[in-house]
Amino acid sequence: MVNKLNIVYSQANSEDELDIFNLLKELGGDRSEFDVTKFYVAKDDNNLVGCIRAKVFDNGCLELSSLAVDKKYQKRGIGTKLVEELLVKEITRPIFILTELNKKNFYKKFGFNIVEPSNLPDEFKKEYERIVSLPFAKNLQVIAMMIE
Ligand SMILES: CC(C)(COP(=O)(O)OP(=O)(O)OC[C@H]1O[C@@H](n2cnc3c(N)ncnc32)[C@H](O)[C@@H]1OP(=O)(O)O)[C@@H](O)C(=O)NCCC(=O)NCCS
Repeated sequence: MVNKLNIVYSQANSEDELDIFNLLKELGGDRSEFDVTKFYVAKDDNNLVGCIRAKVFDNGCLELSSLAVDKKYQKRGIGTKLVEELLVKEITRPIFILTELNKKNFYKKFGFNIVEPSNLPDEFKKEYERIVSLPFAKNLQVIAMMIE
C-alpha cells in the first residue's frame, strides 16, 4: 500500500512512452495504434502510475481508451482524476468508450451513457465489432458509452 500521494497529472511526452506501454501491457490495456502524444499520465514523484488516451478515429470521433492505474495505486481516485483531466483537455464531443458492463457506474458519474451498438457512428461501430470479435472479449459483456 502506498501512503503519502502527491500525484501530478499532465500530457505525456516521448520519455513516458516505454512506461506507458509497459503499464498497458501489464494491465491488458489497448496498445493498438500507439501514439504517445495522445496520452495523459499520472506521476508519483516522477514515476508513471497511470495513463489514459484520447484516441482519434478517421472521422475525427474521439475514444477514451487505454485507461490504466498501477495496481498498487488503484482505488485512490487516480483513475477518476485521469478521466477528468481528459474531459477538460479534450474539447471535442461526443467522446465514446468501449468498456465492460461492470465498469458502467464508474463512467456514468462523469456523464457517459450507454449507446446501443446500432446507433454508433460507422467508424466506432467497426471498432466495437473488432473488439467483441477478439478472443479476450468472448466472456466479457462489452458495452459502448458516450458523453455529449
Ligand atoms: C479501472 C481503473 C483504471 C480504475 O482506476 P482507479 O485509480 O482504481 O480508479 P478510482 O480510484 O478513481 O475509482 C475506482 C473505484 O474506487 C473508488 N474509490 C475512489 N477513491 C477511493 C478511495 N479513496 N477509497 C476507496 N475507494 C475509492 C471509486 O469510487 C471507484 O468506484 P466506482 O467504480 O464504483 O465508482 C483500474 O482499476 C485499472 O487500471 N484497471 C485495469 C485496467 C482497466 O480495466 N481499465 C479500464 C478499461 S475500460
